[in-house]
Amino acid sequence: MEKTITKLCLMLAMLYLVRMADAMTIESKVHGFTQPVITYFGLHNATGIAFIGSNISLTCTMENTIVGSFLKSGSPVAENERVTYLFQGSGNELYGNLEISQVKKDDSGVYTCVAYKAGIVVTREFVLKAVPYPSDVSSQSNNNTRSLE
Ligand SMILES: *[C@@H]1O[C@H](CO)[C@@H](O)[C@H](O)[C@H]1NC(C)=O
Ligand SMILES: *[C@@H]1O[C@H](CO)[C@@H](O)[C@H](O)[C@H]1NC(C)=O
Ligand SMILES: *[C@@H]1O[C@H](CO)[C@@H](O)[C@H](O)[C@H]1NC(C)=O
Repeated sequence: MEKTITKLCLMLAMLYLVRMADAMTIESKVHGFTQPVITYFGLHNATGIAFIGSNISLTCTMENTIVGSFLKSGSPVAENERVTYLFQGSGNELYGNLEISQVKKDDSGVYTCVAYKAGIVVTREFVLKAVPYPSDVSSQSNNNTRSLE
């Protein structure tokens, strides 16, 4: 009789362990495969520098993402006649494109790409620095081609 009870306890314990293992598998699937991922965020030329007066686009490439958004200094980017953005999905990927035309000095700052899916939020930051065109600098001072650096 006692043996039977011990066996029963063991069976229950094993059942419990199996359940736990299942739960862990599901959890690792959530975190390993379906979590949103930001694979790129920045300018096309991978620099953080934009010349004042130029048109730029910041691209954010996301995977496993339902909703994306852009922040500047922690607040949602407000669209206006110079600043526009759009998000486009393709298969498992989502592309966000933030376009700024006629860049101004105060477009400099910290931009954040936000990727969201099923309660999980992933962010990636990009620091943009708006600087004068090298030609502006050289015409103001001297014609030194080294200022193109
Ligand atoms: C990088 O590309 C943007 C356009 O996407 C351009 O405005 C900017 O001047 C480029 N930066 C440099 C350092 O060439
Ligand atoms: C920049 O964008 C503005 C409007 O969005 C456009 O009128 C202008 O021609 C563009 N400039 C360049 C250099 O592409
Ligand atoms: C200085 O640069 C301007 C244009 O950037 C050019 O027209 C001019 O010829 C240059 N002057 C010299 C001395 O190189």
